[in-house]
Amino acid sequence: MSCAIHPSILSADFVNLETELARISNADAVHVDVMDNHFVPNLTLGLPVVSRIQQVSPVPLDVHLMISEVDRWAPEYAELGAASVTFHVEASAAPIRLAREIRQRGAKVGMALRPATPVGPYLDLLAELDLLLVMTVEPGFGGQAFLDVMLPKIRRARAAIDGSGAQLSLQVDGGISADTIQRAAEAGADVFVAGSAVYNTPDPATAITQLRNLGNS
Ligand code: DX5
Ligand code: ZN
Repeated sequence: MSCAIHPSILSADFVNLETELARISNADAVHVDVMDNHFVPNLTLGLPVVSRIQQVSPVPLDVHLMISEVDRWAPEYAELGAASVTFHVEASAAPIRLAREIRQRGAKVGMALRPATPVGPYLDLLAELDLLLVMTVEPGFGGQAFLDVMLPKIRRARAAIDGSGAQLSLQVDGGISADTIQRAAEAGADVFVAGSAVYNTPDPATAITQLRNLGNS
């Protein structure tokens, strides 16, 4: 299983996004954190800005929606051309319907779980998904410490995915660095979001290569 590295532009310079995107052209995708100051206590960017990112990005977009009215907005992000659109199950009134709407618009569909949300109740939904995101910090901010208590949940999710026979990626997001990526990979994750560990370094492209090597080792 070879791993994918998705740098999060949350830690990039928001005034120079095009330049910041060019610095991560060796990434597998760029992770775009959309926050509404309601589902999480932080505010980032929305549809018009993500639409421009889609036009200039050298790599596909992995959109992570941390917003309350996700049933209304998620299909719009699929429509603008994002490769994958991930919604939080805690925010969706109708996750199966939403997953199908995202897929109908040509994007891969991801479902995210906050740290306190167990994976067990959602295993029947795996067939509707292309990606399961296990948050390894409380969503809202970059630069937080990886929650080791999430490792058993990653293992349970990996076992369920393998047992289901479905083709799903298992993504982790929050506190991924050279110190933590191997623990998450050993537990079964194969897609790694990294914000501060990529952008808070002098050379983001080198950081991506190093993380990928560690994730595959
Ligand atoms: C946090 C976001 C993450 C964030 C990760 O709520 O979903 O994508 O950018 O940042 P780091 O890698 O610094 O923990
Ligand atoms: Zn994220």
